[in-house]
Amino acid sequence: MERNTGLIVAMDVTRMDRAVEIASEVAECVDAIKVGYPLVLSEGLSVISRLADYAPVIADFKVADIPNTDELICEQVFKAGASGVIVHGFTGEDSLKACIDVSRLYGGDIYVVSEMSHPGGAKYFQPIADEIASMAYEFGATGIVAPATRPERVKHLRSIIGDELSIISPGVGAQGGKASDVIAAGANWIIVGRSIYNSEHPKETAMELVNGIGI
Ligand code: XMP
Repeated sequence: MERNTGLIVAMDVTRMDRAVEIASEVAECVDAIKVGYPLVLSEGLSVISRLADYAPVIADFKVADIPNTDELICEQVFKAGASGVIVHGFTGEDSLKACIDVSRLYGGDIYVVSEMSHPGGAKYFQPIADEIASMAYEFGATGIVAPATRPERVKHLRSIIGDELSIISPGVGAQGGKASDVIAAGANWIIVGRSIYNSEHPKETAMELVNGIGI
Protein backbone atom coordinates (compact mmCIF):
# COMPACT_ATOMS: atom_id res chain seq x y z
CA MET A 1 0.00 0.00 0.00
CA GLU A 2 1.36 3.39 -0.94
CA ARG A 3 1.77 5.81 1.97
CA ASN A 4 0.50 9.20 0.92
CA THR A 5 -1.71 10.36 3.78
CA GLY A 6 -1.23 7.67 6.43
CA LEU A 7 -4.99 7.31 6.88
CA ILE A 8 -7.15 4.21 6.41
CA VAL A 9 -10.89 4.64 6.79
CA ALA A 10 -12.79 1.80 8.47
CA MET A 11 -16.05 1.60 6.54
CA ASP A 12 -18.27 0.03 9.19
CA VAL A 13 -21.54 1.33 7.78
CA THR A 14 -24.07 -1.28 6.73
CA ARG A 15 -25.40 0.17 3.48
CA MET A 16 -23.59 0.13 0.17
CA ASP A 17 -24.94 3.52 -0.93
CA ARG A 18 -23.68 5.18 2.26
CA ALA A 19 -20.32 3.44 1.94
CA VAL A 20 -19.94 4.64 -1.64
CA GLU A 21 -21.00 8.16 -0.66
CA ILE A 22 -18.37 8.35 2.12
CA ALA A 23 -15.72 6.69 -0.06
CA SER A 24 -16.21 9.24 -2.81
CA GLU A 25 -15.95 12.07 -0.26
CA VAL A 26 -12.80 10.89 1.51
CA ALA A 27 -11.01 9.10 -1.35
CA GLU A 28 -8.31 11.73 -1.77
CA CYS A 29 -7.57 11.74 1.99
CA VAL A 30 -7.11 8.00 2.46
CA ASP A 31 -4.57 5.38 1.39
CA ALA A 32 -7.04 2.51 1.83
CA ILE A 33 -10.57 1.59 2.81
CA LYS A 34 -10.98 -1.14 5.42
CA VAL A 35 -14.15 -3.20 5.16
CA GLY A 36 -15.27 -5.81 7.64
CA TYR A 37 -18.18 -7.97 8.65
CA PRO A 38 -20.74 -5.16 9.23
CA LEU A 39 -20.70 -4.04 5.59
CA VAL A 40 -19.90 -7.33 3.87
CA LEU A 41 -22.56 -9.29 5.78
CA SER A 42 -25.21 -6.75 4.93
CA GLU A 43 -24.30 -6.00 1.33
CA GLY A 44 -22.20 -8.94 0.13
CA LEU A 45 -18.62 -9.44 -0.99
CA SER A 46 -19.18 -7.23 -4.04
CA VAL A 47 -18.68 -4.17 -1.78
CA ILE A 48 -14.98 -4.87 -2.11
CA SER A 49 -14.76 -4.30 -5.86
CA ARG A 50 -17.18 -1.39 -5.63
CA LEU A 51 -15.08 0.43 -3.03
CA ALA A 52 -11.83 -0.51 -4.76
CA ASP A 53 -12.83 2.07 -7.39
CA TYR A 54 -12.01 4.71 -4.76
CA ALA A 55 -9.01 3.27 -2.89
CA PRO A 56 -7.33 -0.09 -2.23
CA VAL A 57 -9.49 -2.26 0.03
CA ILE A 58 -8.26 -4.09 3.11
CA ALA A 59 -10.64 -6.84 4.22
CA ASP A 60 -10.76 -7.05 8.00
CA PHE A 61 -12.01 -10.60 8.42
CA LYS A 62 -9.60 -11.44 11.23
CA VAL A 63 -9.15 -14.82 9.61
CA ALA A 64 -8.57 -17.46 12.31
CA ASP A 65 -9.01 -21.04 11.18
CA ILE A 66 -7.10 -24.14 10.15
CA PRO A 67 -4.68 -23.61 7.24
CA ASN A 68 -6.96 -25.12 4.58
CA THR A 69 -9.93 -22.96 5.55
CA ASP A 70 -7.73 -19.87 5.88
CA GLU A 71 -6.43 -20.51 2.37
CA LEU A 72 -9.95 -20.81 0.97
CA ILE A 73 -11.09 -17.62 2.74
CA CYS A 74 -8.10 -15.54 1.61
CA GLU A 75 -8.50 -16.79 -1.94
CA GLN A 76 -12.12 -15.61 -2.07
CA VAL A 77 -11.24 -12.24 -0.61
CA PHE A 78 -8.34 -11.55 -2.99
CA LYS A 79 -10.44 -12.78 -5.93
CA ALA A 80 -13.13 -10.30 -4.89
CA GLY A 81 -10.61 -7.49 -5.39
CA ALA A 82 -9.12 -6.86 -1.95
CA SER A 83 -5.54 -5.65 -1.79
CA GLY A 84 -5.02 -6.86 1.75
CA VAL A 85 -6.50 -9.12 4.41
CA ILE A 86 -6.29 -8.85 8.20
CA VAL A 87 -5.72 -12.23 9.83
CA HIS A 88 -5.13 -13.54 13.32
CA GLY A 89 -1.82 -15.01 14.37
CA PHE A 90 -2.85 -16.93 17.48
CA THR A 91 -3.98 -19.83 15.29
CA GLY A 92 -0.32 -20.63 14.70
CA GLU A 93 2.47 -20.65 12.15
CA ASP A 94 0.84 -23.06 9.71
CA SER A 95 -2.36 -21.02 9.53
CA LEU A 96 -0.45 -17.77 9.03
CA LYS A 97 1.74 -19.36 6.38
CA ALA A 98 -1.35 -20.50 4.46
CA CYS A 99 -2.63 -16.91 4.35
CA ILE A 100 0.74 -15.51 3.29
CA ASP A 101 1.16 -18.14 0.57
CA VAL A 102 -2.19 -17.17 -0.94
CA SER A 103 -1.41 -13.45 -0.69
CA ARG A 104 1.75 -13.98 -2.73
CA LEU A 105 -0.24 -15.62 -5.54
CA TYR A 106 -2.40 -12.50 -5.75
CA GLY A 107 0.28 -9.91 -4.97
CA GLY A 108 -1.72 -8.95 -1.90
CA ASP A 109 -0.93 -7.92 1.67
CA ILE A 110 -1.42 -9.78 4.95
CA TYR A 111 -1.67 -7.86 8.22
CA VAL A 112 -1.52 -9.86 11.45
CA VAL A 113 -3.42 -8.74 14.56
CA SER A 114 -0.80 -8.47 17.30
CA GLU A 115 -2.73 -6.86 20.15
CA MET A 116 -6.24 -5.44 20.06
CA SER A 117 -7.11 -1.84 20.81
CA HIS A 118 -10.12 -2.18 23.11
CA PRO A 119 -9.72 -2.46 26.92
CA GLY A 120 -10.36 -6.22 26.88
CA GLY A 121 -7.65 -6.60 24.26
CA ALA A 122 -4.99 -6.19 26.94
CA LYS A 123 -5.95 -9.28 28.95
CA TYR A 124 -5.41 -12.25 26.63
CA PHE A 125 -3.64 -10.59 23.74
CA GLN A 126 -0.92 -8.59 25.42
CA PRO A 127 0.89 -11.62 26.89
CA ILE A 128 1.22 -13.20 23.41
CA ALA A 129 1.63 -10.03 21.33
CA ASP A 130 5.44 -10.13 21.17
CA GLU A 131 5.43 -13.70 19.90
CA ILE A 132 2.76 -12.94 17.32
CA ALA A 133 4.70 -9.91 16.09
CA SER A 134 7.89 -11.98 15.83
CA MET A 135 6.05 -14.66 13.90
CA ALA A 136 4.61 -12.05 11.51
CA TYR A 137 8.17 -10.86 10.86
CA GLU A 138 9.59 -14.34 10.48
CA PHE A 139 6.94 -15.46 7.99
CA GLY A 140 7.09 -12.30 5.91
CA ALA A 141 3.73 -10.72 6.60
CA THR A 142 3.20 -7.23 5.23
CA GLY A 143 2.64 -5.85 8.69
CA ILE A 144 0.87 -6.04 12.00
CA VAL A 145 -2.20 -4.41 13.52
CA ALA A 146 -1.30 -2.67 16.79
CA PRO A 147 -3.35 -0.54 19.20
CA ALA A 148 -3.42 3.27 18.85
CA THR A 149 -4.95 3.27 22.33
CA ARG A 150 -1.55 2.13 23.71
CA PRO A 151 1.21 4.01 21.86
CA GLU A 152 3.82 2.56 24.23
CA ARG A 153 2.83 -0.90 23.02
CA VAL A 154 3.11 0.23 19.40
CA LYS A 155 6.63 1.46 20.15
CA HIS A 156 7.50 -1.85 21.78
CA LEU A 157 6.04 -3.91 18.93
CA ARG A 158 7.92 -1.74 16.42
CA SER A 159 11.15 -2.64 18.23
CA ILE A 160 10.33 -6.32 17.67
CA ILE A 161 9.44 -6.18 13.97
CA GLY A 162 12.03 -3.59 12.89
CA ASP A 163 11.44 -1.20 10.02
CA GLU A 164 10.61 -3.69 7.28
CA LEU A 165 7.03 -4.44 8.33
CA SER A 166 4.22 -1.91 8.45
CA ILE A 167 2.07 -1.11 11.44
CA ILE A 168 -1.55 -0.23 10.83
CA SER A 169 -3.18 1.07 13.96
CA PRO A 170 -6.87 1.32 14.95
CA GLY A 171 -8.11 3.14 18.03
CA VAL A 172 -7.83 6.83 17.12
CA GLY A 173 -10.88 8.98 17.84
CA ALA A 174 -13.84 7.04 19.24
CA GLN A 175 -11.57 4.70 21.22
CA GLY A 176 -9.51 7.59 22.61
CA GLY A 177 -6.20 7.30 20.74
CA LYS A 178 -4.48 10.31 19.18
CA ALA A 179 -3.06 10.22 15.65
CA SER A 180 0.18 12.11 16.36
CA ASP A 181 0.98 9.92 19.40
CA VAL A 182 0.69 6.62 17.59
CA ILE A 183 2.54 7.83 14.52
CA ALA A 184 5.35 9.07 16.79
CA ALA A 185 5.34 5.62 18.41
CA GLY A 186 6.05 3.96 15.08
CA ALA A 187 2.75 3.32 13.28
CA ASN A 188 2.69 3.87 9.52
CA TRP A 189 -1.08 4.19 9.17
CA ILE A 190 -3.96 4.94 11.49
CA ILE A 191 -7.31 3.23 10.94
CA VAL A 192 -10.31 5.40 11.77
CA GLY A 193 -13.97 4.44 11.57
CA ARG A 194 -16.66 6.17 13.63
CA SER A 195 -14.99 9.59 13.81
CA ILE A 196 -15.16 9.72 10.01
CA TYR A 197 -18.34 7.88 9.02
CA ASN A 198 -20.44 9.43 11.83
CA SER A 199 -19.10 12.91 11.13
CA GLU A 200 -21.41 15.47 9.59
CA HIS A 201 -18.48 16.37 7.35
CA PRO A 202 -16.46 13.17 6.72
CA LYS A 203 -14.00 14.85 4.36
CA GLU A 204 -13.17 17.66 6.77
CA THR A 205 -12.71 15.18 9.60
CA ALA A 206 -10.48 13.02 7.42
CA MET A 207 -8.42 16.09 6.47
CA GLU A 208 -7.97 17.00 10.16
CA LEU A 209 -6.77 13.46 10.86
CA VAL A 210 -4.34 13.65 7.94
CA ASN A 211 -2.96 16.90 9.35
CA GLY A 212 -2.52 15.17 12.72
CA ILE A 213 -0.56 12.37 11.04
CA GLY A 214 1.64 15.01 9.47
CA ILE A 215 3.32 13.20 6.58
P1 XMP B 1 -13.34 2.97 15.19
O1 XMP B 1 -14.78 3.23 14.92
O2 XMP B 1 -13.06 2.55 16.59
O3 XMP B 1 -13.02 1.72 14.25
O4 XMP B 1 -12.43 4.06 14.72
C1 XMP B 1 -11.86 0.96 14.32
C2 XMP B 1 -11.91 -0.13 13.29
O5 XMP B 1 -10.80 -0.99 13.45
C3 XMP B 1 -11.23 -2.29 13.89
N1 XMP B 1 -10.40 -2.58 15.03
C4 XMP B 1 -9.43 -3.48 15.05
N2 XMP B 1 -9.00 -4.32 14.12
N3 XMP B 1 -7.33 -5.07 15.60
C5 XMP B 1 -7.95 -5.12 14.40
O6 XMP B 1 -7.55 -5.92 13.55
C6 XMP B 1 -7.71 -4.25 16.57
O7 XMP B 1 -7.13 -4.18 17.64
C7 XMP B 1 -8.82 -3.42 16.28
N4 XMP B 1 -9.42 -2.47 16.99
C8 XMP B 1 -10.39 -1.97 16.20
C9 XMP B 1 -12.68 -2.17 14.25
O8 XMP B 1 -13.35 -3.37 13.95
C10 XMP B 1 -13.12 -1.03 13.38
O9 XMP B 1 -13.40 -1.49 12.07
